[in-house]
Amino acid sequence: MDFQLSDEQLALRDTARRFAEEEIKPVAAGFDQSGEFPRGLIEKAWHLGLMNLLVPEEYGGAGLGVMDACFIWEELAWGCGGVATSTMVNDLGLLPVLVGGSEGQKREWLGSLTRDFTLIAFCLSEPEAGSDVAGMQLSVEKDGDSYILNGTKCWITNGGEADCYTLFGSMDRASRHKGICSFVLQSDLPGITKGKKEDKLGQRASDTRVLHFDNVRVPASQRLGEEGEGFRIAMQTLDFSRPGIAAMATGIAQRALDESTAYAKDRKAFGNPIGDYQAIQFLLADMAKDIEAARLLTFQSGWMIDQGANASKYSSIAKCFATDACMKITTDAVQVHGGNGYTKEYPVEKLMRDAKLMQIYEGTNQIQRVVIARQLLNQ
Ligand code: CAA
Repeated sequence: MDFQLSDEQLALRDTARRFAEEEIKPVAAGFDQSGEFPRGLIEKAWHLGLMNLLVPEEYGGAGLGVMDACFIWEELAWGCGGVATSTMVNDLGLLPVLVGGSEGQKREWLGSLTRDFTLIAFCLSEPEAGSDVAGMQLSVEKDGDSYILNGTKCWITNGGEADCYTLFGSMDRASRHKGICSFVLQSDLPGITKGKKEDKLGQRASDTRVLHFDNVRVPASQRLGEEGEGFRIAMQTLDFSRPGIAAMATGIAQRALDESTAYAKDRKAFGNPIGDYQAIQFLLADMAKDIEAARLLTFQSGWMIDQGANASKYSSIAKCFATDACMKITTDAVQVHGGNGYTKEYPVEKLMRDAKLMQIYEGTNQIQRVVIARQLLNQ
């Protein structure tokens, strides 16, 4: 086992760290307050090669493995969770094409993401089917050489900004997961309407929308995999993307520790810097040990995916552990800052708000525990 990063991995991490420090950090609070989508910043990340990380080189991408991509996602989230989510979601959106697409579909859709600045969103959740993917209602009807889509998707990250979508719908609701199909489609097709942007607690720079599909016609050539294969494609996509959420949670948590350590050296109480007191030292030490554990679990799950192993359980363990740790660490960071931490003068209240979403999206942490427990009991 070798924990030494290669020169290439160090260079990747440095590029992302510099972008987070110099480009994201200075504007993060502004985008948080305005809730505006940071399109210019995301486009800069695209030009620097910090997006579409999992696209293989033959389609113009960086061809990174999940583990290497995690180095980048952690650093971007150190700068801002909302901005990092907006960039990382392109990899989530393109994964169904990578997992279930034909050679021609990969060439066309993955190639277009790397040729021009293009956003792609992953459309899975519905108002009545968030955790219960197999219960989705969006209907898919075959009509000659096309499919007709009717229904609603919700909580779609980059939904209002994306140029294309990967989307899941049901051909037969009674068959639950066996009836689900997956598609890749342009976002401006007739019949698609975008709902209002959600006014969220945290990660406010990211664009989260309801999308309505009213008799949307999609050519059969844009179906990913076979009819009924959509559920497997969605699950494999989530297995591959959850280490990315763990990585971003680690980045947010690391930022909370960095801010808290600096504050503990600077802020005085009872005549001494508060870092001189065990009450604060123990909080900082607990943050540091949970961050190290989260980072190792993240890299392990990414590494397993890169080795072609079934990483479902490990992706869920990493996502669940890192995001729960992130919530605790950012809450403790506010505690270290005392009253100051509860104001927008300091960055830690934003970190705490941004952290909350990590425990909810890409499968709530209750669902992660379901995945882990099922694998334990079915072994
Ligand atoms: N890989 C491949 N196949 C899988 C699989 C996996 N990881 N997980 C399950 N399957 C297969 C099963 O083997 C089973 O196959 P058979 O037909 O051969 O029996 C089939 O799929 C059905 O599996 P389950 O019985 O386990 O299905 P279920 O209905 O009980 O649901 C679940 C399982 C884990 C709860 C799933 O619904 C789930 O993951 N829910 C959470 C959804 C989620 O994460 N949503 C996030 C949305 S995206 C987002 O949040 C992004 C964002 O904004 C940034």
